[in-house]
Amino acid sequence: MEPDLTDEAAYEQVRAEQWQRMSRRGMLRATAGAGLGAAFMGAASAAAPATASTTTTAAAADGPIVKPLPPELFITHGTNAETRWEALKGAGLHTPVDRFFVRNHVSTPLIDARTWRLKLWGSGLRGSPAEDAPVEFSYEDLLGLRAETITAFIECTGNGRGFFTSQQGQQVSGTPWKLGAVGVARWRGVPLSTVLERAGLTRRAVDILPRGLDPEYIDKGENLGRVRRPLPVAKALKDVLLAYEMNGEPLAPDHGFPVRLVVPSWVGIASVKWLGDIQVSDQPLFSPWNTRFYRFFGPDHPAEGSAPLTRMNVKSAFELPWDATLAAGRRHVLTGRSWSGNGRIRTVEVSTDGGATWHRARTHGPHPSRAWVRWEHTWRPPATGRYELLARAVDETGARQPATVPHNTLGYLFGAVVRHPVTVT
Ligand code: MTE
Repeated sequence: MEPDLTDEAAYEQVRAEQWQRMSRRGMLRATAGAGLGAAFMGAASAAAPATASTTTTAAAADGPIVKPLPPELFITHGTNAETRWEALKGAGLHTPVDRFFVRNHVSTPLIDARTWRLKLWGSGLRGSPAEDAPVEFSYEDLLGLRAETITAFIECTGNGRGFFTSQQGQQVSGTPWKLGAVGVARWRGVPLSTVLERAGLTRRAVDILPRGLDPEYIDKGENLGRVRRPLPVAKALKDVLLAYEMNGEPLAPDHGFPVRLVVPSWVGIASVKWLGDIQVSDQPLFSPWNTRFYRFFGPDHPAEGSAPLTRMNVKSAFELPWDATLAAGRRHVLTGRSWSGNGRIRTVEVSTDGGATWHRARTHGPHPSRAWVRWEHTWRPPATGRYELLARAVDETGARQPATVPHNTLGYLFGAVVRHPVTVT
């Protein structure tokens, strides 16, 4: 039984156990002083054999992803790993780290938190510090600032991309995810606003540019540099977290250790992992991640592309294997989850006859506004054969899942109702 991390007491217990585990393993010896901060520093040295890493370079792991990727939990796509939806059945509100999807442009770096620094620089800060003379925060500095905890999903903008082709017969480029490029976690860290203000944020600042410490991204032979995507200061100050903890434990290497951004409700690319520096500017900023990628392109869109994508859309998924086999004449409790970047889900409906008739699903459990809601619907298949199960949700703004969505060449934001095939035998 997994702990219910929405329960404060259970959450604190998970944290305390983590502390004890690391203390038993002698991880605290790696650093001077004790306290939770030291425990996390210990985790850092456990994740990375102490190398002479600097704050801007990091050892690369052997493969693109460090954690185990058992086939019953993940579908791998190159440098990425997709969560299998059936692995979430009974998993509670939060996605356990062992099955949280990984989206890596290149590979997971192993970073030593003892030498790591977060560097802030640029014309939007008091005194316009230069890139080579930034305002710096160590890992311990961040652990010492007032922390906040939020439950939020992170979702790849291309989640569901494969259905542009399989359901709509359209060509798109990019990883052909089904619906498993999303996860909900309980994130703990320092509000980005706190750090920006301490670094000397001025009223002139308009954009920030967080940049990761993973290796430079080569796209079709062209070096695009390190992953970085501009974020408007207004969003940065609203609800963005510099997260160092995920589900009560220090971030795992694949999810951004030692510190990542969590940009709630927005496209996953905004939540930059392995954060190294943040440029703060009094001018709008650009990188390939807000010019070339993460915009709508194609005949239905302006020639230069749409505005950069921000919020995620409404989606629903069944916690069932793709092409699941179910026994005829038996009662099946179909379970699933629905979520939206606009806020809470208002209603979920399920169809077991390919969309001819719809039934209201029963939702249950807590539903934080930046996470998903869990639901169920009981079904007794009337006869053997092939069926398509459909689920569609409406969120608190009235946004609902349509039967089809307009095409875009990079296959972003597939929010149409997904037709989930099952065989009844
Ligand atoms: N940050 C860095 N530095 N490098 C990356 O490749 N991928 C982004 C984002 N942050 C990425 C990154 C994308 S596209 C997504 S969807 C999320 O991280 C995925 O987070 P996860 O791997 O923890 O699930």
